[in-house]
Amino acid sequence: MCGIVGYVGERRAAPILLDGLQRLEYRGYDSAGIAVMRGGQITVVRRKGRVKGLSEARSLEGKIGIGHTRWATHGAPSERNAHPHVCGKICIVHNGIIENAAALRTACEARGELFASDTDSEVIAHLIAAEKGDLLHAVRAACERMVGSYAVAVLSQEEPETIVCTRRASPLVVGCDGDGLYVASDIPAIAAKGRKVYVLEDGEFSVLRQGRPPRFYSGALLPVEKTEIDYDAAEDVPAKGGFRHFMKKEIAEVPEAVSRSLPDLRKGEYSALYEVLCQTKYLHIVACGTAYHSGLCMNYVTHRFARLPAEAYVASEYRYMDPIVPADTLLVAVSQSGETADTLAAAALAKERGAKVLAVTNVPYSSLERLSDFVLPTYAGREIAVAATKSFNAQLAVLYAVAGAVAAGRGLSAPPLAPLLPAVREALAMAEQVRSWVPYFVGAKSVFFLGRGADYFAALEGSLKLKEISYLPSEGYPAGELKHGTLALVDGRTPVVAIVTDPVLADKTMNAVHEVYARGAAVFLITNVPECLSCAEVTASVLLPKCEPAYSPMITSLPLQMLAYYVAIARGNDPDKPRNLAKSVTVE
Ligand code: M6R
Repeated sequence: MCGIVGYVGERRAAPILLDGLQRLEYRGYDSAGIAVMRGGQITVVRRKGRVKGLSEARSLEGKIGIGHTRWATHGAPSERNAHPHVCGKICIVHNGIIENAAALRTACEARGELFASDTDSEVIAHLIAAEKGDLLHAVRAACERMVGSYAVAVLSQEEPETIVCTRRASPLVVGCDGDGLYVASDIPAIAAKGRKVYVLEDGEFSVLRQGRPPRFYSGALLPVEKTEIDYDAAEDVPAKGGFRHFMKKEIAEVPEAVSRSLPDLRKGEYSALYEVLCQTKYLHIVACGTAYHSGLCMNYVTHRFARLPAEAYVASEYRYMDPIVPADTLLVAVSQSGETADTLAAAALAKERGAKVLAVTNVPYSSLERLSDFVLPTYAGREIAVAATKSFNAQLAVLYAVAGAVAAGRGLSAPPLAPLLPAVREALAMAEQVRSWVPYFVGAKSVFFLGRGADYFAALEGSLKLKEISYLPSEGYPAGELKHGTLALVDGRTPVVAIVTDPVLADKTMNAVHEVYARGAAVFLITNVPECLSCAEVTASVLLPKCEPAYSPMITSLPLQMLAYYVAIARGNDPDKPRNLAKSVTVE
């Protein structure tokens, strides 16, 4: 969460910072600010709201500066809590959480220092300002007192041509080209053709000084040689391509994301992983949000076809449950961004306890990728909308293939995945039909999504999507569980979406349809079991193509994503940037 960008070089810093922040806005967008230094004087401009609110800062003169777009953790979204924060001659931007900030602040205040914000971050500026010596040593000394996670970029009026930056448990990259030096929390903020980019590891420092190559240092401030990473700058320019929102564009990209992501695990580059999959005795899956739902789907498929005791965990629970990690455990960490703090911590814990870690991530060079033993990329392409769509389907493609390999290793077999590709394309075309359902949802009190088997996981995902961007209360529920209490909530203002793709379970789910209809709910059906369409109690339905029921979230997710999208728009929300959220959740 939060985005950092910094620049020092031959060009005016302000436009570079603002463009970089714009590209980072998916990391947080409740407030933003930049600081530009000229002739040793620092000018700070901060605003509540989005980066576009900083447009007047574009004309600032000065060839060195830092910028930040915020997702509030400590202190409300406001101008005074926006970064950069200044103390004396020091100016900082920070991502992460300083867990001992309260104690550090009390100590600073006891010395008579005044604070201008409610943030944990401001204390970093105070700690650095209190140190003697050059900026690099001052930053290092300050870091030694900080507990928590951080990526920090620092300016000092004492060293008007230098940015010092460092990280711990929060990503940071450094770039350079003929025009200058760059720092950012994410590659896309500084990606450009011909620009070299380096990834900072935990505890490392970098000094960016005008006219010189970037310098890198270990935690002990010993020089470190770094190799530039190989990234594709062309891929990193997001564009809506004629769509009104990124979310709609990204739903349209699902078929391509799936077909590009389906791995052939028997192929050379994955053969070592394939061996591990074949021998795996225990499978733990950790993830958050939508990625957790794809983990649940994999879990189901693994049970069904590999007959292996797998378990999917919410990463933030796994890390504190003192998990039992038997020998030969493979931990599958699923994360679109590869930077989700809870997923990283869960993976690191399992690794510490002897598990091999397989990362399934959409972002090359992400922290998750770097800590894992094996990586299976999803090739969904950059996902800009905060709501995960194409990355979910791409994750399913990879995770189903992994489950298939585990099954093969146990002398079993999973149904082939290839038939999913045409089914996904067809489902995308059908998904548009849900647009006509919107009037029933737009003023609803709450919404239920019901399903059994794999349909239940699709229900969870459909509900998360709707909550996230429409702000309507909603629940994904196992269809058979409704009558054990939840049915009390159902009335004429609670539309129900029933998902039915398993002919064996169809009658059972339809029983729940009868129950909610009898309580006044309007029922909407997403199915590929044609017999269900004859139910007179259904207000409207979408008939999807046939597919293996265990794989069906791959196709039922499409109308569910589309429904959330259209309901959000009808309620006047920006589906790409829902309130209170950020694309990448890098704090605990
Ligand atoms: O980057 P990750 O896949 O690790 O992110 C996990 C969740 O934060 C994410 O899936 C979130 O739930 C989505 N915004 C939901 O649409």
